[in-house]
Amino acid sequence: MSQILLVDDDASFLCVYSEILETNGHTVQTATSGQACLDLLQKEFFEIVVIDMLMPEMNGIELLRHLRHDYPHMMVLVLTGEGSISNAVEAMELGAFTYMVKPVEIETLLHNIRRAEEFYRLSSENTSLRSKLSHRDTSPTLVGHSSYIRNMIEDIQQIAPASSSVLITGESGTGKEVIVDMIHSASPRCKGPLVKVNCGALSESLLESELFGYEKGAFTGATARKIGYFELSSGGTLFLDEIGDLPLHLQHKLLRVLQEKCFARVGSTKSIYSDFRLICATNKDLKEEISAGSFREDLYYRLNVIRLITSPLREHPEDIPDLVQHFLTFYAQEMNKKPVELLPAAMELLQQYSWPGNVREVKNLCERLMVFARGGCVDADAIRTRLGEDCGKPAEEPSGTLRDADDQFQASFLAKRLEEQHWNISRTAQLLGISRKTLQLKIKQYQLKPL
Ligand SMILES: Nc1ncnc2c1ncn2[C@@H]1O[C@H](COP(=O)(O)OP(=O)(O)OP(=O)(O)O)[C@@H](O)[C@H]1O
Ligand SMILES: [Mg+2]
Repeated sequence: MSQILLVDDDASFLCVYSEILETNGHTVQTATSGQACLDLLQKEFFEIVVIDMLMPEMNGIELLRHLRHDYPHMMVLVLTGEGSISNAVEAMELGAFTYMVKPVEIETLLHNIRRAEEFYRLSSENTSLRSKLSHRDTSPTLVGHSSYIRNMIEDIQQIAPASSSVLITGESGTGKEVIVDMIHSASPRCKGPLVKVNCGALSESLLESELFGYEKGAFTGATARKIGYFELSSGGTLFLDEIGDLPLHLQHKLLRVLQEKCFARVGSTKSIYSDFRLICATNKDLKEEISAGSFREDLYYRLNVIRLITSPLREHPEDIPDLVQHFLTFYAQEMNKKPVELLPAAMELLQQYSWPGNVREVKNLCERLMVFARGGCVDADAIRTRLGEDCGKPAEEPSGTLRDADDQFQASFLAKRLEEQHWNISRTAQLLGISRKTLQLKIKQYQLKPL
């Protein structure tokens, strides 16, 4: 069921047809002129707009041009008189979804609305599918039976139906992104797009143009208009990951978008309405960032309407066997192998380990175990080999000069941090407090490679 806007200068048409659509479960608003339609769109979100071609002042074609330009994802259906089919042809060329000849049969209108809904749903699913495909995990579930996991799932179910902003904080690898997927798919916005943006991975200017979009010619290189993430996520969820890395001037701009629910593309002053639910995540302590002057306090309070805090795995070790089992089965299926079995001593070792990389580290270990699996059982020694010296076994003493010892330590330390971060160079460099360039030089120097 959709949010529909009917635009016609004929008030009796609006009255009759809005009632029919409402009886069929849609939410309907009406506007009696092109300008009234544009004004309403600045304040509210609609998936479908039905416009009459023959209106005084701004006619349907003019209105359609505005709509295609400012709201390219909206489905526009046009109504024409019997004698003005050429108008309909022009409207279709401008990107109208379909046209209907007045007087419109109720069945025809409902049928076309259903088709438009289906089309809208599929294109939104494509947007969120594209965003999901760039991340390997698609199943939004938190595995585990601890009271922490059970409470978190309960909280997610409670907050999913609302549209309030959510701030998720917690260490790296603790499932913040899984929680975002779960909130979106349990929310009424699940058929809309879920757009994910990593604020730490893009340069400041790129991030701004990705978020806001831009007009053709807005800056050198802007050869065509681009629709930004604020606009793409309308009707769905916008996930700003690593929000602690958002540059200060964009923090100010984001605050304004949240206050006004409107924004303008770069190179334009026209304000565009967008209806997205915002979820942000960070593994930084935002309070500390505020004290250090690198995060705006007013933005923090805007984001922190609902707060979810993920727990490091060392604080709920009772979930480790479930997680191990889950990932072993997952990779066994993916690699078309039989899942390996862990001997009790091996599992015990895993439960004693501190998992600095949290669940991501469990997942990586399971992947490694399955890659090297030759059938049979895995014992504690095999686990030690795959986990490295962190796990129960004292590290081998480095030999040679102090320089050699330092090199050995750095090579193993960097390899581990890179594995935990899935070889995301920017993120690892940031965690380590060094530049990307320095990290890349060290990777080369120590000949580090993904496991
Ligand atoms: N409880 C869980 N059950 C199943 N899988 C989980 C769980 N927690 C995390 N994962 C998996 O672990 C990996 C890391 O989780 P996720 O990406 O959500 O972490 P994160 O908190 O966003 O980390 P970062 O701060 O580094 O971005 C993902 O592959 C995710 O699917
Ligand atoms: Mg994450």
